Amino acid sequence: MAPRFWAATPVVSGRCHAVRVQTTNHRATLAKRRADVAGMFDHLATRYDLINDVASLGMDRSWRRSVLQAVAPKPGEFVLDLAAGTGTSSIPFAEAGANVVSVDMSLGMLFEGLKRNPELSFVAGDALALPFADEAFDAATVSFGMRNVQDTEAALTELLRVVKPGGRLVICEFSAPTWPPWRRVYTTYLPIVVPGVAKLVSPNPAAYDYLVESIISWPDQKALARLMSDCGWAAVEHRNLVGGIVALHRGRRPL
Ligand SMILES: C[S@@+](CC[C@H](N)C(=O)[O-])C[C@H]1O[C@@H](n2cnc3c(N)ncnc32)[C@H](O)[C@@H]1O
Repeated sequence: MAPRFWAATPVVSGRCHAVRVQTTNHRATLAKRRADVAGMFDHLATRYDLINDVASLGMDRSWRRSVLQAVAPKPGEFVLDLAAGTGTSSIPFAEAGANVVSVDMSLGMLFEGLKRNPELSFVAGDALALPFADEAFDAATVSFGMRNVQDTEAALTELLRVVKPGGRLVICEFSAPTWPPWRRVYTTYLPIVVPGVAKLVSPNPAAYDYLVESIISWPDQKALARLMSDCGWAAVEHRNLVGGIVALHRGRRPL
């Protein structure tokens, strides 16, 4: 699709200047074809972290602390951060002294991450065919990535393969608010507010239509827990954040 342009006229030193901010319309569909998902993230990589902060009203920072607590890595442990994007979800693990490996399949997100966080170990890779040996990691985590993977069961099975027996998996993902009135407000306003904010600040606003569709069609807390158990993860439990807008799921690879 041809690029479209959004024109703004900020006032600089009392004079008006026309500027052109280039935007595109790259989005995936709910088929989540890998090339479409990677291309979509390539085209929003430069503003991804900023928009996350704005759209979540800064709550993403406390969600990342909750993920770290749930994984509880010991210094020196090997932690896989799958679908790590620009590496923002990996930073707390590096700061805790873990050997975190940040894997993603969007080159745009990886190169933006390399610029911002050159100290992280980025690897280009696909959740459905991870480029690691069996039992390579003490723990694995996926923040806001699992929903975008084409085949959830295949990814959960692949994660089981690369985590050591007894090792843990923590998934942080958008979920379903549990209090019905809150759920009604959320599902009414999500399709209005998120694309509205994205049109103002994102270089790829169409991606945020996909975001809304993918959140609404994603399994709720119990369904995701069942899926994890069906794929071989043990001791699966979940915890809601912000009344269930986000949920943490954790499980262990059986010994
Ligand atoms: C919403 S971003 C999350 C980034 C980061 N984890 C965070 O919390 O900010 C989702 C990421 O999932 C990645 N992704 C989607 N499908 C993938 C797959 N099959 N293999 C690897 N990465 C994938 C995308 O490229 C994108 O960077």
